[in-house]
Amino acid sequence: MTTRVGVVGTGFAAASHIEALHRLPQVELVALAGSSKPKADEAATRHGVEKAFDSFRDLIDDDEVEVVHNCTPNFLHAQVNAAAIDAGKHILSEKPLAMNSGETASLVQQAEAAGVVSGVCFNYRHYPMVRQAKAMIDSGEYGPVNIAHGSYLQDWLLYADDWNWRLESDKAGNSRAVSDIGSHWLDVVQYITGQRVSEVCADLSTIHTSRNKPAGGSQTFVSTNSTVTEPTAVDTEDFGNVLLRFDNGARGAMSISQVSPGRKNRLWFELDAASASVVWDQEEPNHLWLGRRDKANCQLVRDPGLLAPEAARLAHFPAGHQEGWPDGLKNMFIDFYGDIDARASGDEYRASFATFLDAHQVLRTVEAIVASHRSRGWVEVTNEQGAEA
Ligand SMILES: NC(=O)c1ccc[n+]([C@@H]2O[C@H](COP(=O)([O-])OP(=O)(O)OC[C@H]3O[C@@H](n4cnc5c(N)ncnc54)[C@H](O)[C@@H]3O)[C@@H](O)[C@H]2O)c1
Repeated sequence: MTTRVGVVGTGFAAASHIEALHRLPQVELVALAGSSKPKADEAATRHGVEKAFDSFRDLIDDDEVEVVHNCTPNFLHAQVNAAAIDAGKHILSEKPLAMNSGETASLVQQAEAAGVVSGVCFNYRHYPMVRQAKAMIDSGEYGPVNIAHGSYLQDWLLYADDWNWRLESDKAGNSRAVSDIGSHWLDVVQYITGQRVSEVCADLSTIHTSRNKPAGGSQTFVSTNSTVTEPTAVDTEDFGNVLLRFDNGARGAMSISQVSPGRKNRLWFELDAASASVVWDQEEPNHLWLGRRDKANCQLVRDPGLLAPEAARLAHFPAGHQEGWPDGLKNMFIDFYGDIDARASGDEYRASFATFLDAHQVLRTVEAIVASHRSRGWVEVTNEQGAEA
């Protein structure tokens, strides 16, 4: 059975999705939509896709398209997601699910009522060693997680000349570093521990309150050489530190930064359970460190023969043949399309990708972090009625 897919967006996320989709035999990418016809045509030619649209609505209305991948900037997420569900299409949205929790709550209900498969691209869940960490914590062998701490650090927005649409709060939302990458940390740690963040105390900071915006904008993760720039005020955080309380009593802390020199995509967590600590670093994704007090510490290597079955299934190559970021994304898509196939054939399926409800809860946590920073105190993460986890 072949499932036909359309991707909305032509930037970094879209190119990553397209590369992963091309590696799934049961999926055919049939259409792309961009912000203009020339951009869409260029991307379609580059990626070998037949149809190119300058309107996401035309892509969604195309009868051939059964699934929509939403890879647009944040401010377009809610409308693209809602339009896809309205048209009865399955939807995989990039994070954040929308700009605020009012929009995400409404999308949760809309997707549930429509009965389409819906998911959000919190891709770090889908690395073999992350799944191994979850299997180890779930086994109960090491006792409950008491402390969850770590960081997500990048340096691509280090200088005042670095620019991206994420720096404009009307396009990205009123949190930047925490929403853009801290949301991944929150999702993956909650996924592994099975615990929800219930209270936060945050201190956010902006190094560059004014940046030099290049004429014509700039691409994600690409430095601009533009000499024509305009000083532009920035009202979102470059970094932040957040204390966390979880609903089982565990405590935690995360540091989130887009201005840490030398750190490229360093999502790092340490989960301190009663008798062992489990540590993973996205920049060394094929290892998991296990800390013990009464035995030697050890490093588990991604060897399918040594992993829990649910983690081994995510490892596609033997030990020593490194897998990384693009493979985690592919694993997420295998899961998402597995759910679509199971639904079509009436089979039971237990998906592990993040749901709209998971993303709604992460967004409420980000909102609580911003509120905590503003009030300089602890803020509870509430769940809205009808959207309980
Ligand atoms: N899951 C991840 O690890 C991950 C990584 C990167 C980005 N993202 C998410 O992906 C989204 C896109 O980020 P990006 O880094 O690719 O940004 P980007 O700037 O590289 O790409 C955004 C693209 O959207 C296009 N676009 C703008 N308006 C459009 C419209 N009306 N219709 C169709 N396309 C339109 C732009 O032309 C651009 O090509 C963001 O929401 C971001 O949070 C997620």
